[in-house]
Amino acid sequence: MPYSGLGLNGRVALVTGAARGIGRALALGLAQAGADVAVSDLPAHRGGTEETSEEISGLGNIGRAYDLDVLDLENIAGVTGEVVSDFGRLDILVNNAGIRIRKPALEVTERDWDAVIDTNLKGVFFCAQAAARHMISQGSGRIINVASQLAVVARPDRAAYCASKGGVANLTRVLALEWAKYGITVNAIGPGPTTTPGLLEADTRPEQEVEAELLAHMPLGRRMEPEELVGAAIYLASPSAGATTGHLLIVDGGWTAM
Ligand SMILES: NC(=O)c1ccc[n+]([C@@H]2O[C@H](COP(=O)([O-])OP(=O)(O)OC[C@H]3O[C@@H](n4cnc5c(N)ncnc54)[C@H](O)[C@@H]3O)[C@@H](O)[C@H]2O)c1
Repeated sequence: MPYSGLGLNGRVALVTGAARGIGRALALGLAQAGADVAVSDLPAHRGGTEETSEEISGLGNIGRAYDLDVLDLENIAGVTGEVVSDFGRLDILVNNAGIRIRKPALEVTERDWDAVIDTNLKGVFFCAQAAARHMISQGSGRIINVASQLAVVARPDRAAYCASKGGVANLTRVLALEWAKYGITVNAIGPGPTTTPGLLEADTRPEQEVEAELLAHMPLGRRMEPEELVGAAIYLASPSAGATTGHLLIVDGGWTAM
C-alpha cells in the first residue's frame, strides 16, 4: 500500500505570487499531491493565475484564480475570506510572493527598501495572520513561507532582500511558537538560485559572470528548477509534518554547505 502521509487529498491551499516561477510550480505540485488550490497573484498577472488554475483543474482538482496584492491588507483579508467561502476551508498557505532589487547598499533608496521589505516580510506576516484566523477555527493549518538561502548567508547588492529573508526565517519561528497550540505549523523553505522569470529579469549580468558565481558557490553547478522545490512544500504541507514547525528547510543545491 502506498504511504499516505504525504497525500493532500481534501486539503485546500492558497498560494501567493503563483502566476509564474516558484509559486506556479508549488501550486501545481500541491495539486498533484491531491490539494485543491486557490492560485493568487497581482491583477496584472491575471493571465498567469488563470493558466495555473486551469492546469490544476485539468488534473481533476479544483483550481481557482484570485487577484491578491500582498501589499494590500484589505485585499488579503478579503481574498482569504473568499477562498474559505469558495472552498469551505483553508488548510495550507504558501507565502511565496516576493520581489528582489539588486543594488549596492549605498544606492538603495527608501522606496527600494520599503518595496522589498513590505512585499517580502510585511506581506508574509499579514497573509499568515489572515490565514491563521481561519485555521484556528478549524484546529489545524500549515503555513509555508518561501524564504531563501540568503536568509542565512549574505551576498553583496542585496541589503533589503537579505534583511527581508532573514526576517522571514525568524518570523517563521515566532509564529510557530505562538500558533502550535492551535494545531498550526509554520515553516519556511530556503531555495537557492532557481531559474524563474523574476530571477532572469533581475539578473542582467553577463552569462560568464553568472557561471563563475555558480561555480564558486553552488556545488550543484547549475541553477535549480522550480520543480525541485515541490517535494519540500508537499512534505511541509502534509500530515507527515505535524511535528515539524519553526523550521527553515534549505533546498539550495548545497550553496550554504560551502
Ligand atoms: N528564483 C530564485 O532564485 C529564488 C531563490 C530564493 C528565494 N526565492 C523566492 O521565491 C519566491 C518566488 O520567486 P520567483 O523567483 O518565482 O519570482 P518571480 O518574479 O518569477 O515570481 C514572483 C511572483 O510574485 C508576484 N508578486 C510580486 N509582488 C507581489 C505582490 N505585492 N502581491 C502578490 N504577488 C506579488 C509576481 O507578480 C510574480 O508572479 C520569492 O519570494 C523569492 O524571493 C527565489
